[in-house]
Amino acid sequence: MKLVRPNKAFKVIAHRGLSKHNPENTQLAYQAALSQHIDMLEIDLHMTKDGALVAIHDDTIDRISNGKGAIKGLTLEALRAFNFSRQANFTVDASIMTFDEILTLCKKFSKTLLIEVKKPKNYPNIGAQIIQKLKHHAFPTNRVIIQSFDQSFIQKLAETVPYMHYGVLISKRKYWLKQPTFSEIAKYADYVNPNYQLINKKFISRAHAEGLKIMPYTVNDSQTAKKLIQMGVDGVITDIPEEIFKL
Ligand code: G3P
Ligand code: CA
Repeated sequence: MKLVRPNKAFKVIAHRGLSKHNPENTQLAYQAALSQHIDMLEIDLHMTKDGALVAIHDDTIDRISNGKGAIKGLTLEALRAFNFSRQANFTVDASIMTFDEILTLCKKFSKTLLIEVKKPKNYPNIGAQIIQKLKHHAFPTNRVIIQSFDQSFIQKLAETVPYMHYGVLISKRKYWLKQPTFSEIAKYADYVNPNYQLINKKFISRAHAEGLKIMPYTVNDSQTAKKLIQMGVDGVITDIPEEIFKL
């Protein structure tokens, strides 16, 4: 049986779009997600050799396209020549999508954009570029959250642009190496979004005590989603929102 949101504030987030049945981080996946009654669309951003912001998870195009190479070594024009539907052997044509194109698409829907900045150290001015694009498209700031595994990147961006909403992602490896200091994160971020396997009642109560919301990734079965909801998470990031939730 599909789950219902436990309360009005609870967020259902489509991870890389509706990415189980469509090529991840492409217009097909995003359009399919935005057409559902989800609350947020999660996207991954990298930067091309010529400074274009593009939606892709990996730092190379090898896994999901019919090309090869690092994003930072390819121009946008070069990337446009490849088909990005190789993941799970989808047979459709799918181009790489720029951040400009995503903002134009998303503006037509009343969803929040959860922007994950991948490897920001590879792209020195990526934060400023994202902010400039959001301004250029007059994208409502209350419908954007910028998140990254790179905590210091989020902290610096939040200090420079304090009016945006921010999230810190926590991987299992990072957590075991150094447990997050929720009181520090809460000084600049609104969300702490961990691998769902890190969630327990203590994690939730410590984060909530600092006013942080928690939206774990990537929750792809109903039983796990149900347990997390019972523990008190504020949303879940999933590849299959339409299968887990009654939207
Ligand atoms: O939004 C969080 C989640 O996407 C982080 O993991 O590897 O799927 O980008 P990953
Ligand atoms: Ca991501």
